Amino acid sequence: MSKEKTYLVTGGAGFIGSNYIKFLFETYPEVKVVNLDKLTYAGNPENLKSVENRSGYYFVKGDICDRVLVADVFRKYSPDYVINFAAESHVDRSIGDPDDFIKTDIYGVYSLLENCRKYGIERFVQISTDEVYGSIDKGSFSETDTFNPSSPYAASKTGGDRLAFSYFVTYDLPVVITRASNNYGPNQYPEKLIPLFITNAMDDKKLPLYGDGKNVRDWLYVEDHCKGVEYVLQNGKNGEAYNIAGNCEKQNIEITKKILELTGQSDKLIEYVKDRAGHDRRYSLDDSKIAKLGWQPEYDFEEAMRKTVQWYQENEEWWRKIKSGEYLEYYKEHYGQDL
Ligand SMILES: NC(=O)c1ccc[n+]([C@@H]2O[C@H](COP(=O)([O-])OP(=O)(O)OC[C@H]3O[C@@H](n4cnc5c(N)ncnc54)[C@H](O)[C@@H]3O)[C@@H](O)[C@H]2O)c1
Repeated sequence: MSKEKTYLVTGGAGFIGSNYIKFLFETYPEVKVVNLDKLTYAGNPENLKSVENRSGYYFVKGDICDRVLVADVFRKYSPDYVINFAAESHVDRSIGDPDDFIKTDIYGVYSLLENCRKYGIERFVQISTDEVYGSIDKGSFSETDTFNPSSPYAASKTGGDRLAFSYFVTYDLPVVITRASNNYGPNQYPEKLIPLFITNAMDDKKLPLYGDGKNVRDWLYVEDHCKGVEYVLQNGKNGEAYNIAGNCEKQNIEITKKILELTGQSDKLIEYVKDRAGHDRRYSLDDSKIAKLGWQPEYDFEEAMRKTVQWYQENEEWWRKIKSGEYLEYYKEHYGQDL
């Protein structure tokens, strides 16, 4: 159905966005994809090496907050769909310096929505997060539950989520919203728990585990997330939000032990460190709404974790460049400027 459509994917050089773009080309070989990405520290053109020279792929380096530039992109490419992955996404960084989070995760969404309203689109997908609901001791959050974001990251994502909804209610813009659990898989920036621990374990370095290690997250393999987003884009109802869960709740200590097992390391590498400020205890999503729509995750945790560890083992060059700061040099060489 959507093989000749033009997708504007924002933040497509990041972890999930780059996986989504590769998934689109595998699924619809004729599709056109415009990737608008500012290339912050988290955006890495190497994530898209396999598609960067193919027909139908267009890269625009730019900030979603730049309304004039976004308007140029709309005039030049006339996208049918806009999928907004662009965000500042790391909770720890949002605690240190929330400024860019407020800009990109709220104003950036506004800038995109305004251009969608002006130029017209078939669908706008706002990629939100389970973090908008906050922590829950027992049970799971459904889409109509109250928001209770507790970090500047989660609060700005909540702003973007509700702003997108308001454009549906107020201007009848065809908006759908997805709220996914914690993702893992290839190309995740090694500051996030799973890639950080895998790559540290590979180097015999300590795995710094927050607090008592018993915080619970639901884990979703990135390929499943990409398929879920596409499913909602094609089948969701305007104005609705859909939780995308992995149905795989684990304590951080369980994740850590699995990584140690898969990398052949011992528990001695675990180092308990002072907990993150305002660290939510447990996230849990009720995914019955998307299940009723006809979608569920395919990957089993064991299999997906094996694939993930294997990817980092086979792509040392990718993460070593980032961890050693070499990527900054690569960026300057390719783009003629500092990050
Ligand atoms: N990673 C997860 O576990 C997870 C879970 C649920 C939802 N999400 C959401 O999914 C989206 C993608 O997450 P990710 O983990 O791939 O993030 P990421 O940090 O790996 O990638 C973000 C991308 O956005 C780009 N970007 C940042 N600011 C920009 C701006 N102002 N203009 C244009 N591009 C900009 C970056 O360069 C980068 O390529 C985010 O919206 C995030 O909130 C992530």
